[in-house]
Amino acid sequence: MLAFHTNHQDSSKLVSSLSISFSTSQHFRSSAPSFSEHLRKMTASFAARLILRRPSPPTRFLFRRDVSLSPIQRTKDDAVSPPNKLPPFDYSPAPYAGPASDEILAKRREYLSPSILHFYKTPLNVVEGRRQYLFDDKGRRYLDAFAGIATVCCGHCHPDVVAAIVEQTNRLQHSTVLYLNPAIADFAQALASKLPGNLKVAFFTNSGTEANELAILIARLYTGSHDIISLRNSYHGNGGGTMGTTAQSIWKYNIPQSGVHHAVNPDPYRGLFGSDGEKYVRDVQEIVNFGTSGNVAAFISEAIQGVGGIVELAPGYLPAAYDIVRKAGGLCIADEVQAGVARTGSHFWGFEAHGVVPDIVTVAKSIGNGIPLGAVVTTPEIAKALTRRSYFNTFGGNPVCTAAGLAVLRVIEKEKLQENAFVVGSYLKERLNELKDKYALIGDVRGRGMMLGVELVTDRELKTPAQNETLHVMDQMKELGVLIGKGGYYGNVFRITPPLCFTKEDADFLVDAMDYTLSRI
Ligand SMILES: Cc1ncc(COP(=O)(O)O)c(C=O)c1O
Repeated sequence: MLAFHTNHQDSSKLVSSLSISFSTSQHFRSSAPSFSEHLRKMTASFAARLILRRPSPPTRFLFRRDVSLSPIQRTKDDAVSPPNKLPPFDYSPAPYAGPASDEILAKRREYLSPSILHFYKTPLNVVEGRRQYLFDDKGRRYLDAFAGIATVCCGHCHPDVVAAIVEQTNRLQHSTVLYLNPAIADFAQALASKLPGNLKVAFFTNSGTEANELAILIARLYTGSHDIISLRNSYHGNGGGTMGTTAQSIWKYNIPQSGVHHAVNPDPYRGLFGSDGEKYVRDVQEIVNFGTSGNVAAFISEAIQGVGGIVELAPGYLPAAYDIVRKAGGLCIADEVQAGVARTGSHFWGFEAHGVVPDIVTVAKSIGNGIPLGAVVTTPEIAKALTRRSYFNTFGGNPVCTAAGLAVLRVIEKEKLQENAFVVGSYLKERLNELKDKYALIGDVRGRGMMLGVELVTDRELKTPAQNETLHVMDQMKELGVLIGKGGYYGNVFRITPPLCFTKEDADFLVDAMDYTLSRI
């Protein structure tokens, strides 16, 4: 019997997560290569969880002032110099005449919801952006390696996208889909041309959450079933239905979220079966067999979990999961909100790397380059389910947003941004892996193209999340002029999701800044 002792305020949660994982392992015991090996890994991972001291969420995900850092373990002893200057960029921001950061912060505190938090000990007042760079109120330039959470794909204020927005705004800003307008039709056609099979009918929304809510609704209507299967550690939004599919406690409030089952995550780094996708997939069959009537409405997943900390699904998992779900009468929804639109470099859509064709694809973030635009794309037959009643979205398919969407697709093509994401992303990943060889603090480097993750752990064997170090490095890199994101359940994974026009020189600067920061912990 295993016994753990903890003073943690969340100890009951930890114990219950322990027993869930333990019973899961028993399902798979007979086919696992070595049960004792699994037990050892589980024990290590549980111990890692119990070591955690978490302040109350969600502030731990953004900044912390009382950071105490464990001494860093380095495998090489050479001194690291500070990074050179940012790569040259011929642009001077307009002088800033607006209010100072303190004043903005005071207004935020008084007039904005207290749920709205900010990155960094000293928050950044970002007032201009061009391509892969942002400028603060003092005119200082930063390399943006987060892109407004994997959203600005063509680069900040791309002139073609801005021109499309301005031109359409001057012509007609809003009309609703109750009238004809060429912008929505042209964009729908262009989007369909990027998707495989019969995925060619779009419904436009304003966000990723809305797109996933609608996808879930369509799946339930089409199949006549209610149960949805999503993956643990996923993020699909925070609406009534999507919060149910989202599977990380920090993003879930205690409200009814019915009809959703969360399958074991095929996580090659922390998962029980490493990269063996087919072993994880048995849990999907078990959910169908033991958690539903035998029929499900849908399976929804990201190809690479973004908010969850850039977790790539183990190879072989998605095709096998899709098979099981389809046999149970369900539809397969690919949430491409973060991994889609050329970001992964090797393919335009994340699911393509897994060799599957979904029944419904949801898109947002990059497709608007910062304009509120989302879409649900499915087959004409499935789309018919929505005609049983009236479904309407006032701003969905708005001429300005769809004109921007079309411009984004054209810029990606014209500037070969997918190829750039592949070439520069692969180079950046290689360089980050070199850092992993140098610093034991880096437990894992993963992802594809311009969707990369670097997981920090204080102990590689136990995979103990290095939360304080993550916050510290992020803060220090900002001081050096590099903005990166952060995610993962433990808040210990750097999310590197820059605009797709990121260059090799930018990649070098980012890695040099990270190297220098790690060397000084
Ligand atoms: C994979 C994924 N799906 C859905 C969403 C929700 O999108 P939005 O914030 O636009 O509602 C997000 C947001 O981060 C996401 O990463």
